[in-house]
Amino acid sequence: MSVTSAANAAYIVAALLFIRALAGLSRHESSRVGNMFGIAGMVVALAATLVYALGNESGSVTSIFPQNLPGGVHAPGLHAMSTLGVILLLLAVIAGAAIGLYRARVVAMTQMPELIALFHSFVGLAAVLVGWDGYLSIERRPHATEAQVFKLQGTFGIHHAEVFIGVFIGAVTFTGSIIAFLKLSARIKSNPLVLPGKNLLNLGSLAVFVGLTAWFVASPNLLALILVTLLALALGLHLVASIGGGDMPVVVSMLNSYSGWAAAASGFLLNNDALIITGALVGSSGAYLSYIMCKAMNRSFISVIAGGFGIEASSGEAKDYGEHREVNAETAAEMLAEAKSVIITPGYGMAVAQAQHGVAELTRKLRAKGVEVRFGIHPVAGRLPGHMNVLLAEAKVPYDIVLEMDEINDDFSDTDVVLVIGANDTVNPAASEEPGSPIAGMPVLHVWEAANVIVFKRSMASGYAGVQNPLFFRDNSAMLFGDAKERVEDILKAL
Ligand code: TAP
Repeated sequence: MSVTSAANAAYIVAALLFIRALAGLSRHESSRVGNMFGIAGMVVALAATLVYALGNESGSVTSIFPQNLPGGVHAPGLHAMSTLGVILLLLAVIAGAAIGLYRARVVAMTQMPELIALFHSFVGLAAVLVGWDGYLSIERRPHATEAQVFKLQGTFGIHHAEVFIGVFIGAVTFTGSIIAFLKLSARIKSNPLVLPGKNLLNLGSLAVFVGLTAWFVASPNLLALILVTLLALALGLHLVASIGGGDMPVVVSMLNSYSGWAAAASGFLLNNDALIITGALVGSSGAYLSYIMCKAMNRSFISVIAGGFGIEASSGEAKDYGEHREVNAETAAEMLAEAKSVIITPGYGMAVAQAQHGVAELTRKLRAKGVEVRFGIHPVAGRLPGHMNVLLAEAKVPYDIVLEMDEINDDFSDTDVVLVIGANDTVNPAASEEPGSPIAGMPVLHVWEAANVIVFKRSMASGYAGVQNPLFFRDNSAMLFGDAKERVEDILKAL
């Protein structure tokens, strides 16, 4: 078996491991094993790439051409990878792995989405660079005879389209992800940017892209490539900047999908099967995740892809909901001790306070007293899909009492006490009762239907979407102010 076919076989093995990883990651119980499959797949793919680079005599690993092009033409201008090239490749892998490992170890769970957004921007940038290199390599292609160029025309037509589409998706992903990173890390405001005729701007950009593609495929030129790069950079920026805080989860998973397609486009350019398959896996699973999230948040999938759907409903006016009521930890403990059924709805604040262990302890104590305790998890609670589930699993809360929003929403009316621990937007009745609210139409946990609601937070500040929450002012609601972890510990002591 030649080195090339061994490497290709290894790529297929890696792709299968990635598919196995995705399957594992779809359930809590198997997610750890799924992750291991993913790591193994990546190790195999990297090793195969290195072996390919070392052993391939006539082509570099970043060759944009198949070794033997249609018509019996051998691609000119390719060289075996030099020792220096391999050393550089290894250094890049080691440096990248070290930085990645370090960032993943030190990142706080609450900063995960912004880190992911930043990683997506790298994929986008890589796709742009690969695309540009793909074009410039052809321009630099030495000594091709007229006959060879003629025979290569067909292949080059496809090649040029690959370059163009790869650069476009990559550049949209790059700037879009950077804006998402800045918004998620609160470095810029999460308010939507409202430019006049924003939908027309987006649609117009797509039309210009189609026109530029036709021009580039017919007669490849540097100007078209520069124009499409600038157009896509601006489009990515506009798409994400014009989406408001509450809708950011969908944007992140959409960018996840875009980064997958950008990687797949690079795979075609580099003639690398592993990259094509992996990119397609990320692209399609990200698109499906966006679809699920759109359904969960009652948003139209098409309008998400078209960008900037978060603004229309916004009224922006501050309403006066009256006075709120406060309780202390001792009173909260008494209410819990007397309750028969309790539902806990955690949110981002539980993650910030790292209150999950105290919450798990409280759950154990109450269950030991015969109180029925369950958790209600909103699909976008926290800052990343499954955020709350991960925290609760880490604190060893049994899976069977952790229920999804749809599974528990009808049960609030039969519940004695609901503990809203650091959640805000996900329990906001304005979403279903105020059509002018920026989060109107988003399904929420109906906590206000319970007999008593205790809200753990530090102040009356609004949640991520920047919307006031009328729940806090309801007669059956009471605020328990302070850091969620400290307040939960106070309740544990009082119990
Ligand atoms: P949020 O609406 O973000 O509200 C969290 C609340 O926690 C805040 O109002 C804050 O109030 C409180 N808090 C913060 N630190 C706290 C602490 N140490 N102790 C006690 N409370 C604390 O939370 P949510 O209900 O989970 O909703 C999530 C929001 O994030 C949604 O708008 C969602 O669209 C968005 N989002 C979600 C994702 C994903 S995929 N899940 C990704 C990006 C964005 P105080 O400041 O007064 O304490």
